[in-house]
Amino acid sequence: MGCKIAVFGTGYLGATHAACMAELGHDVLGVDIDSNKLASLASGKAPFFEPGLDEVLQANIENGRLRFTTSYPEAADFADIHFIGVATPQKRGEFAADLSYVDSVIADLAPLLTRPATIFGKSTVPVGTAARLQQTVLGLAPARDDVEVAWNPEFLREGYAIRDTLQPDRIVLGIDRERPGRAEQVARQVYSDIIATGVPFLVTSRETAELAKTSANAFLATKISFINAMAEVCDVAGADIIELADAIGYDPRIGRKFLNAGVGFGGGCLPKDIRAFMARAGELGANQALTFLREVDSINMRRRASTVEKTRELVGGSLIGARVAVLGAAFKPDSDDVRDSPALNIAGQIQLQGASVAVYDPKAMENSRRLFPTLEYAVGVAEACIGADITLVLTEWEEFRNLDPAKLKTLVREPRIVDGRNCLDPERWRACGWTYNGLGTR
Ligand code: UDX
Repeated sequence: MGCKIAVFGTGYLGATHAACMAELGHDVLGVDIDSNKLASLASGKAPFFEPGLDEVLQANIENGRLRFTTSYPEAADFADIHFIGVATPQKRGEFAADLSYVDSVIADLAPLLTRPATIFGKSTVPVGTAARLQQTVLGLAPARDDVEVAWNPEFLREGYAIRDTLQPDRIVLGIDRERPGRAEQVARQVYSDIIATGVPFLVTSRETAELAKTSANAFLATKISFINAMAEVCDVAGADIIELADAIGYDPRIGRKFLNAGVGFGGGCLPKDIRAFMARAGELGANQALTFLREVDSINMRRRASTVEKTRELVGGSLIGARVAVLGAAFKPDSDDVRDSPALNIAGQIQLQGASVAVYDPKAMENSRRLFPTLEYAVGVAEACIGADITLVLTEWEEFRNLDPAKLKTLVREPRIVDGRNCLDPERWRACGWTYNGLGTR
């Protein structure tokens, strides 16, 4: 027997979670305040690009297990298991996370809870949030302490969201250790099929669960900035960062994953999560513990600036009047997400220095245009590259990895390429007469 579940927030996290819970056999109601988003989802089409998601949406809408609504009363009436998957963006002008969306779900939902219920937070939040929300719920919910707030962080990666949700590395559940209620039992029921496959299920305090998410992202960001710092050293020492990453990555204690040097990390999670983590540690009086994350952040941002500088040098010292082709705008391949994308950020900086920049991305054109309307957008690689003085590959889409250097050479003005993701084969490009430049490579 499936559970009845409401999922609040239908962005990358919420929509995927709702669809996957239905896929597991539960009856799911996706809730959002944005009726346009819901209309798109209800028609079986996610309002963003995520491989495989539309198929899961469609199958479960058809079999009747997945529906969407803007109505909180409907959700409170339908389900006793509520997941919160709304965004926690960076506050304007501050490092801290903006919790207003999470807070407003609780403010609107809690007064409607007249029966015992469990609220599972999935959003990335500062440590201490779940305990605070429990107090709010206690004050607002007619069912009072029969409503439990637990934290169940989500570790999914965009581009692999379905797989990461249905076959996660682990499930972490943070509960109130002082007064454990039904949350663990409910979560075991919701995730029973996944747990049965042997996926580790870790029950912790709510604080540990909240920290598990922020510290995982901090570690990943640190790993990327570490290798990018090594790339800076490789550049001045005449060494090669790819060979170096291979050489250290074979040590299983280090591991080769997340050691790809390039223009650095972006997206809706890592950059804002490390900042929110620093802010929270400061509030709790442990700011020294995380000062290294400032350095992680600056190494990362330096990648963008140094790619702009490298481009300027390669076109002869000034970008004024240069024609620049930028291939890639999404923060990573298989995504149309351009939030804090290094690619778009670099394209924008280059344009601000006087170049004319043509951008092409296989999926992120619409989102890019919305964020950076002043850049020029081409319909394909060929159009972006016509007459280019320099070509920059800034997102490692398969389409760009497979480009034919000989063909592209006939379109550009100068066969110069900057491989911002170290994803091309230098020998192949050089053999066709291109000046190839990786980041931290020879
Ligand atoms: C991340 C975490 O991986 C995920 O567990 C968490 O739930 C949300 O944040 P995501 O933002 O989807 O997921 O992307 P991820 O694959 O982690 O990549 C983040 C950024 O790092 C991208 O811009 C990517 O291009 C960059 N990256 C990744 C590198 O520059 N080098 C690498 O070796 C790996």
